[in-house]
Order: sequence, then C-alpha cells, then structure tokens
Amino acid sequence: MNTSLKDKWVFITGASAGFGAEGAVHFAREGAHLVIGARRVDRLEAVAAQCQEAGAASVHFHELDVACTANVNACVAWLKELTPQLDVLVNNAGGAHGTDTVAEGKDADWEAMVQSNFLGLMRVTRACLPLMMENAGSTIINIGSIAGRVAYEGGSVYCGVKAAEKQITQSLRLELNGTGVRVGTLDPGLAETEFSIVRFKGDQSKSDKVYEGLDPLVAEDIAEAMIWMATRPPHVCIDEILIKCTAQAAVHKTHRVTD
Ligand SMILES: NC(=O)c1ccc[n+]([C@@H]2O[C@H](COP(=O)([O-])OP(=O)(O)OC[C@H]3O[C@@H](n4cnc5c(N)ncnc54)[C@H](OP(=O)(O)O)[C@@H]3O)[C@@H](O)[C@H]2O)c1
Repeated sequence: MNTSLKDKWVFITGASAGFGAEGAVHFAREGAHLVIGARRVDRLEAVAAQCQEAGAASVHFHELDVACTANVNACVAWLKELTPQLDVLVNNAGGAHGTDTVAEGKDADWEAMVQSNFLGLMRVTRACLPLMMENAGSTIINIGSIAGRVAYEGGSVYCGVKAAEKQITQSLRLELNGTGVRVGTLDPGLAETEFSIVRFKGDQSKSDKVYEGLDPLVAEDIAEAMIWMATRPPHVCIDEILIKCTAQAAVHKTHRVTD
C-alpha cells in the first residue's frame, strides 16, 4: 500500500525557486502540511500562496540560509513549534557557482558551493533527525546530481560536493538502518531552472546556451520523482534515482538540434 501524504509534514529547503518550489506545490496537491525555507522570503511567500491554492493542509515559510548553523537551528526550532514530527525532509538547497578550472577557481565560489550543497545538507539533516527518528516510514530525499557521479571540466568543486552528497546519503542509510527512516538521493541531469543563471552570475545568454537545441528536464519532472519516492510503502526505500532528459545520454554526450 502506498503511503498517503495527506496531513503529513514536509520540509523543503531551497523552496523559493526551481525543484524546491515545484516540489512544494506537488506535495501541497497531496494535501500535506508544507514548511518551506530559503533566503529570499518574498519568493517563499509567493510559493506559499501557490501551495495554499494547490490544496496544502497548511503552509509555513521561514527565512533559511543553510550556510549558517545558527540560522538553520533557529529555523528548525521554529519548525518544532509547528509540529513534533516530520514525515518528509527534502534537502534541496544548493547549486553551482562558476565554471572555472581548478587553476582559475575563486575562493568565494568554492566556499558558497561547499557551504550550501555539502555543509548545509549536514546541518539541516542533523537538526531535523530528532523529529524523524521515532517515525518509521518517514523519508529524507537528498537532491544530488549527475555531477556527483561523473566529473566534468570546470565542475571540480560542484562535482565534489555532489559526490559528497552521495556518500553522506549512503552513510545516513547505514546509520538509520533499523529505525524505519528512509533516505535516498535524487540525482537530476540537465534541468532548466534558475540553476544556470546562478552559476553564470545572472548572464542570461550563457545560461540559455546550456539548454540550446534540446529539451531539458523541467522542475516538474523532479517534483514528480520526489512524490514517488515519498509515497512508496514503508518497507520500500528508494536509495537512488538518476534522471536525465532523453537528449542527454551522458555528461559529455548531448544531442542538440541547431539551425
Ligand atoms: N538544474 C539543474 O540542472 C540541476 C541538476 C542537478 C542537481 N541540481 C540541484 O538541485 C537543487 C535545486 O536547484 P535548482 O535547479 O532548482 O536551482 P534554482 O532554481 O537556482 O534553486 C535553488 C534553490 O536553492 C536555494 N538556495 C541556494 N543557496 C541556499 C542557501 N545558502 N540557503 C538556503 N537556500 C539556498 C535557492 O533559494 P534562495 O536563493 O532564495 O536562498 C533556491 O530556492 C540544487 O541542490 C542543485 O545543485 C540542479
């Protein structure tokens, strides 16, 4: 029997855009209670309104910067006031900054990627685990990437932190064995969100080139996978999923149709 998400409590980090925002709306359609966090509170407010409209049992948003332990702990302390039990945690906050080679890399970009994708996931998970440990059938979904599986030029730190995400997920899977708490990694390939705009520091034309001549994944594709992972029956744990658009056979092999 599938697990119903109706009236379940779902916390999504990085829910102001992309996969996180779309995931929130999808969980809302299932009748879940949504708790969403990110740094841009005005954007969260708009996503919260969409969730309410979509049928969420309730929606709550809070400023969250996963790069800061005190901020994460304050957000999760506020969450604990809402509910003593969390059913789904989606560790989604993150992204890439720059495409420099190792030789040309900038400290600020490296630090931002390590702080959000790697340490942020650790901080949020540590803070939320007490709300999940006694809750067999609850689910942690970590958003990884194809980049965590295969390295590419100009991706050293991003590939590194996403490879770390994969290892953290596997460590957690071992540590949680016997509790009934499930954990898995959901690894997208090329997907058109604000990801490339952020990576190229607002340069729209560079971002557009990433998706030129092919049909990339969209946020909805990943949101649907989140719902599928979280609604498996309690004895089923989806350890890992890799999703790529059809045109992306591998990191270095995409089929593009250009005039
Ligand atoms: N799009 C792709 O091609 C792709 C492929 C594989 C994996 N991914 C991964 O998927 C996840 C979501 O990315 P996306 O594609 O949806 O990109 P996006 O549209 O840029 O969304 C990224 C989200 O992460 C949040 N975020 C970033 N740093 C944060 C921080 N320090 N604290 C809290 N929230 C933070 C952003 O919110 P604020 O800026 O408001 O804080 C935003 O809501 C990321 O982990 C990314 O690495 C993306």
